[in-house]
Amino acid sequence: MKTIKKAIIPAAGLGTRFLPATKAMPKEMLPIVDRPTIEYIVEEAIESGIEDIIIVTGKGKRAIEDHFDHNFELEDNLIKKEKFDLLEKVNQASNVDIHYIRQKEPKGLGHAVWCARKFIGDEPFAVLLGDDIVRVQEDKGEKPGLRQLINEFEKTQSSIVGVQQVPENETHRYGVVDPLTVEGRRYKVSNFVEKPKQGTAPSNLAIMGRYVFTPEIFDFLDKQQIGAGGEIQLTDAIQMLNEIQSVYAYDFEGKRYDVGEKLGFVKTTVELALENEEIGEELYKYLVEKVNARNLTY
Ligand code: UTP
Repeated sequence: MKTIKKAIIPAAGLGTRFLPATKAMPKEMLPIVDRPTIEYIVEEAIESGIEDIIIVTGKGKRAIEDHFDHNFELEDNLIKKEKFDLLEKVNQASNVDIHYIRQKEPKGLGHAVWCARKFIGDEPFAVLLGDDIVRVQEDKGEKPGLRQLINEFEKTQSSIVGVQQVPENETHRYGVVDPLTVEGRRYKVSNFVEKPKQGTAPSNLAIMGRYVFTPEIFDFLDKQQIGAGGEIQLTDAIQMLNEIQSVYAYDFEGKRYDVGEKLGFVKTTVELALENEEIGEELYKYLVEKVNARNLTY
């Protein structure tokens, strides 16, 4: 039985929705409270059993490589100041073994995944996008988002994409699946459609940035077919793969946070900050004050 040990994290997009913040800083490095977004993604990959991670980077993304590397000057300084808790946090990121490849032009998500093909070789692999953070309740027995997909892969030996239900008026922002049959949380799918026009989506099951693929996906990414928005779309390759071998959709457990757009990013920041031991309580009081003041004004 095959399992999944390698993962690709595409991080070469332009991050236009966060301009001008992303003019000189990768959107994957935008902090949620005190950790960059990409660290949450790397953590989920590791907790899911991934051993080798390749991050697809592009122009202006050096900060990502620096983040996952040692910074001896900073470590020295923290040791001298006896800030050992901070030292541990800083070292957490630099102890992971991560590889990098550059996408020379941001031609789309499908193209970014294709750039990592030599690293993957002829084995099944995972893809995690930084736009979605998935948080699960471990105390209730929920497994990390990607782990749930890997478990399904181990049963089916087939490609599988993570989905969750979204409101109908939001389907046009996502890749959407047209389900045929369902078994528990796993769907057999007839079609995968990238960003369907409003009112035309075949369902409200949207693809949420977690995937497991057999290596045959590269046969279709090789075609470099241009799709929606003039980009090489991963969803189009998934649809073609589905025509020769089943690609399943899995409605995974856990709360998904959309950090790829401004409002989602701010909501995630507030929610995680409220849970933060250091600032949660104070922030809560502040928010209550703000809400009350606003209620008085309106
Ligand atoms: P997005 O479309 O959400 O990212 O792609 P973006 O293009 O950076 O964002 P906007 O729309 O301009 O604000 C999803 C993921 O795929 C990566 C992005 O970095 C992001 O993590 N991506 C996208 C690439 O690596 N290369 C690309 O050519 C496009």
